[in-house]
Amino acid sequence: MPSRPMIVRTIPALRRAVDGLRARKASVALVPTMGALHDGHVSLVRLAKRRARKVVVSIFVNPTQFAPTEDYGSYPRTWKADLAKLTAEGVDLVWNPDVDTMYPAGFASRILTDGPATVGLEDRFRPHFFGGVATVVGKLFTQVRPDVAIFGEKDFQQLRVVTRMAADLDLGVKVIGSKTVRERDGLAMSSRNVYLSADERRAAPVLFRTMKEATRRLRAGEDVETAQKSSVATITAAGFVVDYFEIRQAETLAPVTSIKDGPLRILVAAKIGNTRLIDNIAV
Ligand code: PAF
Repeated sequence: MPSRPMIVRTIPALRRAVDGLRARKASVALVPTMGALHDGHVSLVRLAKRRARKVVVSIFVNPTQFAPTEDYGSYPRTWKADLAKLTAEGVDLVWNPDVDTMYPAGFASRILTDGPATVGLEDRFRPHFFGGVATVVGKLFTQVRPDVAIFGEKDFQQLRVVTRMAADLDLGVKVIGSKTVRERDGLAMSSRNVYLSADERRAAPVLFRTMKEATRRLRAGEDVETAQKSSVATITAAGFVVDYFEIRQAETLAPVTSIKDGPLRILVAAKIGNTRLIDNIAV
């Protein structure tokens, strides 16, 4: 039976534990998470294990990336189940700080993000989000000092923002994206899927289906604007309120006018009931 990972909750304990992992120059991978782990997270851990000798998973529900109106208080917290999954995957260390450890009294610094963080996608609807993510991920990187860090492609703009930030601040971490894991009907796995009612859950795969259909139509010669508009109409008809359905340049996330501007990425965010879902695919 695999042994339970070491669990640390203070910075000095983390430093000692990471120094221990690094003995004999072992490489270290970090998988940052907010817990409520599902098979998508498990796939991140498996990729981390292929990329480094030792794997650290952080579990921290980061308050600074939630607006006061969002679900910080109700975000699923499933510590026991998370630990069982990480044990089964043979994770070496779980970094589980509390809010006061990450943001002690008087905390007054933030990482400001630009470039991919200001392209009018998530940033337009969650203006607080990338400042909070970049700050906490910057802290996690300097705390753990991993060689590589694994992020899901499901949060595609986040992946681009964190990759840029790690390079811009010379953090010495290679950021690696990991493919989105989907349910059998195409819904991208997300800790927030538990919020969906049975009817909403039945409607949810429309996001993936519509992105795939838009890809088919773009490849068949449909123009970008028409593909975007008809996709919004399809998703709206399924009961969603669409924040955006955008076809963008995959690297910069800049708007495009033609498939020739590719490689392209389709990114969608839409709300059904009280649940906001995001997803993306390559064209
Ligand atoms: O993607 C997430 O779960 C979070 O945004 C992250 C990267 C762990 C930062 O809190």
